[in-house]
Formats: sequence, structure tokens, C-alpha cells
Amino acid sequence: MLNHKRRSKTKVFSDPLLAMDRNNEKLHIVIFPWLAFGHIIPNLELAKLIAEKGHKVSFVSTTRNIERLPNSSSSLITYVKLPLPKVDNLPKNAEATTDVPYDVVQYLKKAYDALQHPLSSFLETSNADWILYDFTAYWVPAIAARFGIKTVFYSIFTPPFMGFMGPASYMIHNDPIRTKPENFTVPPPWVPFSSTVAFRYFEIMRIVDAVSDNDSGTSDTYRLGASIENCDLVAIRGCTELEPEWFQVLKDIYRKPVLAVGQLPSTGFNGGDENENDTWRWIKEWLDKQTHGRVVYVAFGSEAKPSQEEVNEIALGLEKSELPFFWVLRARRGASDTEVLELPEGFEERTKGRGVVWTSWAPQLKILGHGSVGGFLTHSGWTSVVEAVQNETPLVLLTFLADQGINARVLEEKKMGYSVPRDNLNGFFTADSVARSVRLVVVEDEGRVYRETIKEVKDLFVDDQRQQKYIHELLRHLLSHRKNGERVFPG
Ligand SMILES: *[C@@H]1O[C@H](CO)[C@@H](O)[C@H](O)[C@H]1NC(C)=O
Ligand SMILES: *[C@@H]1O[C@H](CO)[C@@H](O)[C@H](O)[C@H]1NC(C)=O
Ligand SMILES: *[C@@H]1O[C@H](CO)[C@@H](O)[C@H](O)[C@H]1NC(C)=O
Ligand SMILES: *[C@@H]1O[C@H](CO)[C@@H](O)[C@H](O)[C@H]1NC(C)=O
Repeated sequence: MLNHKRRSKTKVFSDPLLAMDRNNEKLHIVIFPWLAFGHIIPNLELAKLIAEKGHKVSFVSTTRNIERLPNSSSSLITYVKLPLPKVDNLPKNAEATTDVPYDVVQYLKKAYDALQHPLSSFLETSNADWILYDFTAYWVPAIAARFGIKTVFYSIFTPPFMGFMGPASYMIHNDPIRTKPENFTVPPPWVPFSSTVAFRYFEIMRIVDAVSDNDSGTSDTYRLGASIENCDLVAIRGCTELEPEWFQVLKDIYRKPVLAVGQLPSTGFNGGDENENDTWRWIKEWLDKQTHGRVVYVAFGSEAKPSQEEVNEIALGLEKSELPFFWVLRARRGASDTEVLELPEGFEERTKGRGVVWTSWAPQLKILGHGSVGGFLTHSGWTSVVEAVQNETPLVLLTFLADQGINARVLEEKKMGYSVPRDNLNGFFTADSVARSVRLVVVEDEGRVYRETIKEVKDLFVDDQRQQKYIHELLRHLLSHRKNGERVFPG
């Protein structure tokens, strides 16, 4: 009898999550994303899933960013507002990448670095167990260590991108293998399987041009490397079932725990638009009038801004495609952006009734969910990709910056999307190639594979049970390795 009891007790408490339920043990987790909505939103989705399991989350960002988020849906999520320190060259009220032109983002990073002091004051009295931080905040582990708080580098960059970027030490010091931009156009030696995942020449050149302007004092590559190097655990947006080979690469090169958190499908975000319902009503009425599966939805996320030449080719391409389209065009990045994009002469007249160019925020998830939408011309940002998969919308890919090129290679390999053909050296593309690409993916017979594959991968991407399993595994790990080696279960 006694033996039997003891055994069953051991069994129950061998799972820290079950033990936690028994003892009502809850974690307090701080989440601190980079000042970009493409980062804030998937961090918030993760916060919601953690809170649903009964743990307390402090979601830390700057005042204006928090004010642009939906009100917290859970009493367990507390928004913590830190005023963004002032730095030279950063326009007033600019608190996210979407508020400033690309070349001003470096000053946003400088201001973000100055958040170290208020963040430290918050952590000191927070009694937090863990903090999840983003790649820009490579300095978090040094602060957290003072208060016995353990650290997770939570990467919203995908496993293939992180695998391609390589070992942390190569990013912190100089990569001894890839010394030239063209070295980034082939898979690196630590990827042991054959793969097309690498940058195109024009993609890596745009990144090189961007990082030479590093007035924040610290390069993005260094930030990313140090973030990986200094954390206790790497958590990464992705599914082990979808790309086991890339997770293996990460475990091999990081030599520390790497956990998948799932794709974190969007649950909706209103972009701070109080008139959301009116906006959606208008858009829905327009979409209702279009033919099922024919509309091309065009949007390039909150960061990418095409050049004027690119806008011309995109516009003329949409016109030539003869398909209906809904184009979300951000003509400028924030009020300080003086290079306002314009549409080609007469374009709006000629496409009247067939196309809409929308210059303010639009409810992307709802639009993608409308039956009239048959394809998504996208920059390949991963949050947009996941939203497309949620709605079974095949992709036409046009990359602009950062990790987008690597995402596009993965989507091409998996036949989830087709890239607009471009000049390898300068990235130039024509209106004709835009027109042919959208027609291929949306209507042509030869493009059927894209429309079918996007449906087939949906289960892997957004299955709720699988998503729950990833969160369960993450929390199990956080619970059993929390601060000071505390053991949460008896015996
Ligand atoms: C959000 O919260 C604020 C302050 O608590 C409140 O004034 C506002 O009405 C809320 N908004 C919504 C849409 O619930
Ligand atoms: C990097 O590129 C240079 C110039 O093309 C080439 O000579 C070198 O072999 C490349 N290195 C690797 C590791 O591919
Ligand atoms: C910033 O960029 C310059 C020029 O590319 C480089 O010399 C310098 O080392 C970089 N600074 C940091 C801190 O990365
Ligand atoms: C929008 O409409 C939904 C239901 O139709 C309602 O629940 C919600 O409160 C409305 N939101 C606003 C901001 O009016």
C-alpha cells in the first residue's frame, strides 16, 4: 500500500506543470519586445497564451506603444509603460519603427538602449522569475542577473533565418568564414543538408548598406549574437514538425536549450484604430462586390517602404494583371518622412472600381479572411505569412529588407509562394513580371500548386492543440529551471 502510494505521488510530481497545479505555483514572466509592431504583436500573442495557463505576465514597452495596443484581455497581463528616453535625431512621438524612415531606426535603437535604467528599476522590485527579450536588447541578461531573474532570448526570426546567420560567436566577433557579401548568397558550411536558403545578391547588398549606418553604436549582428550568447534559453517562433532540420542546426551551433513556441497565429489587432468597425464595414462591402478568389491583397508590413520606382512597377503591374486588387500603401513612414510615395499618373482613374489603394491602417487578418481574396503580394514578413496561412491565401513574394529574403527562399522551397522575378544584382523588377506573378498564383493553371500547398500546410501552422503543446513545453522548462535552482516539486 505504502509503496504504491509513494510511487503514484512521484509520478504526479515528476511533471512540474502538474506539480505547479497542485501547489498553485505560478510564474511571473516579463516580456520586453523590440519597438516594432512586427515584434510587439507576436510577443503579445505569446503573452496571451502564457496568461491562459494561469501565469502572470508583465508586458513592457514604451508609453505610446502600449497605448496603441488593444486593452489587455486578461487580468494576468499587466502592461508596463516606460517613457522612451529622448535622444538626438529621433522625432517627437516616434516610439516604433513604423513611425520613422528606415535610416532613423538607428536612433530608435539608441533610445531603446537607454531604457536599461528604467527597466532595471522595474525588474528590481518585480519579483519576476524570467524575462523574455528581443534581439536588440542584448544587454538584458546583465541586468536580470543582478536580481536573480533568468533570461530567454525569444526570437521572432524563423529557425531558417537564425540557422543561416550562424553561431553567436561569428556575429559577436567577425565571421571568419563569410567575409564578403557574396558569401551570404550560398548556404553556410554548418548547414549539413542541401538547401536553397540564402540571400540573393541584391538582398544582402541592401542589408550591408543598411548596417553601415549604425549610429546606435552597436550593429544588429552584434546585438543578435550577444542575445543568443548571454541567455539561459533560446525560444523561437516556429514548429519543430515543419522544419526539424533547422532546429537541429540551432541546437548544434548554440549548444544551449532551443525551444519552439509554435507559429503564434494572430488573434486580431486593431492597430489603434478606434473606427475599426467603420473601416472594416467599408472594406467588406467593397470585397463583397468582387468575384470569389480573385482579389489580390497587397501589403508590405509596417517597416518596408518601396522606392518610388518600385511603386510605379507594382502599380502598373497590378493594372496589367487585370485582376481586382486591394493595396495597402504606406506613402510615408511617420510624419518626419519627407519622401512621400506617389502613384503613376492616371493610375487611379484607370483602375477605378477594380482596385483600391488604401493609405491608412487596414485590418489585414479580416481582409485575408474574406472569400474574394485569392492571393497576397507580400514582403514575406513572418507575421503576414502566418496570417496568410491561417486564411489559406497563396503568396506572391517581393522582399525589401532584413530577414525577408530568407523567409522568401523557405516559402519558395515549400511551394507556398512564388517570388516576383528580379534582377539578381540590383533587385529591379518590371510591371510585366508583377502582372505575370500575381496571375500565376491567383488564377493560372500552372500556379495551382501554390493554391493547394497553402491549404495543406495550414494544419501544421495553426493547429491549436499543437500550439498548446509548445506553450506547455516552454512553461514546463521555465518552471523547472527557474531562479536560484529552486525546486518546485517535493522530494
Ligand atoms: C481601454 O481601457 C481604457 C482605460 O482603462 C478605457 O478608457 C477604454 O475605454 C478601453 N477601451 C476599450 C475599447 O475597451
Ligand atoms: C567568399 O567570397 C569570396 C569572394 O567571392 C571567395 O573568394 C571566398 O572563397 C568565399 N568564401 C567562402 C567560405 O565561400
Ligand atoms: C559601425 O559601422 C562602422 C562602419 O561600418 C564600423 O567601423 C564600426 O565598427 C561599427 N560600430 C559598431 C559598434 O558596430
Ligand atoms: C465593433 O463591433 C463589434 C461587434 O460587431 C463590437 O463587439 C465591438 O465593440 C465594436 N468595436 C468598436 C470599437 O466599436
